[in-house]
Amino acid sequence: MAIKEDSMRNFVKFFRILTLMVFVAGANFAFAANPSVPQKDGKQYAEVISGNNALIAPSDRANPLIYGGPEIEAIKTWGVGSPNSQGLGEIFTLLQGHYFATIFGILIILVPLAFLGHFVLIGQKKFNHGKKIRVFSNYNIIVHWCAAIPFVLLCLTGLAMVFGDKLGGGSLVRFARDVHGIATIAFAVFGVLMFLMWFKSALPKAYDIQWLMIMGGYLSKEKKPIPAGKFNAGQKMWFWVCTLGGFAMVISGAFMFFQFADINTLRMMALVHNLIGFLVIALLITHIYMAVFAIEGALHSILDGHMGEEEIAILHSYYYKELNAA
Ligand code: HEM
Repeated sequence: MAIKEDSMRNFVKFFRILTLMVFVAGANFAFAANPSVPQKDGKQYAEVISGNNALIAPSDRANPLIYGGPEIEAIKTWGVGSPNSQGLGEIFTLLQGHYFATIFGILIILVPLAFLGHFVLIGQKKFNHGKKIRVFSNYNIIVHWCAAIPFVLLCLTGLAMVFGDKLGGGSLVRFARDVHGIATIAFAVFGVLMFLMWFKSALPKAYDIQWLMIMGGYLSKEKKPIPAGKFNAGQKMWFWVCTLGGFAMVISGAFMFFQFADINTLRMMALVHNLIGFLVIALLITHIYMAVFAIEGALHSILDGHMGEEEIAILHSYYYKELNAA
């Protein structure tokens, strides 16, 4: 009873902190988003950009369609839906200039905080580590890490670019950009291999709906068999986001890097890159929490390929039945 009251008190405390943070983030949002706020030296954003443009040698202006005068003129009159708007110009400038970094900031603070709350209030699932069963081959393990390492680098260097101004800009951010490009190539290769290796196990099944309805059993510590195959519904979601979402990131990133399109398409690609980026960052944090903290010893399965029998029987009950039937 005392433990229950303690948990309740902790939960209320945690909820209060969360509400306060959402409020602060919201206030920041409302003020940061005012498009009529002059930028540097009292100038509007477009004037600052065209001023900077004059400093770039014409030969270094990668895409004349981006640095061209009419486009700059078009975003001088701020506000979505203005009579001078051209294509996605205004919505892109507004989101890129005022919202994207804030949303990434909120995600990298709130998602870990929510899991910290889970860890404190509900805690780790613990299973008997006696009998182990091999669930991943060496090939699975190698491909996972060869896709995962560049993917993590992509997320870290992507965030370094999003918060480039806060990190002081300059060579650090340019280095992050170079690493981002190289990691993209490595992920593109191993991401395809990972897709081919696991897509069958990640196809949706009817029992995934039941898993989602009970949130995979992660809201309680009770050891009751959970409806899941080799991968549960949450893992399947992560699989599709990091493979199909990952490929959409590679394609939209390539458009931005090589700038081989008109400005409106490039703006569309930048919007897509950021929107999928939100999902990828939030789910990557979730994936790491699940693998390292939510279940004691879960990380071993992707290091040595083995998982405890009890863990499979409880958390992957349909897979366990399949293994026993085979
Ligand atoms: C340091 C970071 C990471 C850790 C500690 C980690 C750990 C793990 C573990 C323990 C599993 C096996 C889960 C199980 O079946 O119970 C797994 C599976 C998987 N990992 Fe990772 N991983 C990491 C990063 C990544 C990244 C960046 C990607 C994306 C490229 C990724 C993609 C996957 C996929 C698709 C699976 C199979 C489905 C699933 O379990 O969600 N992992 N990982």
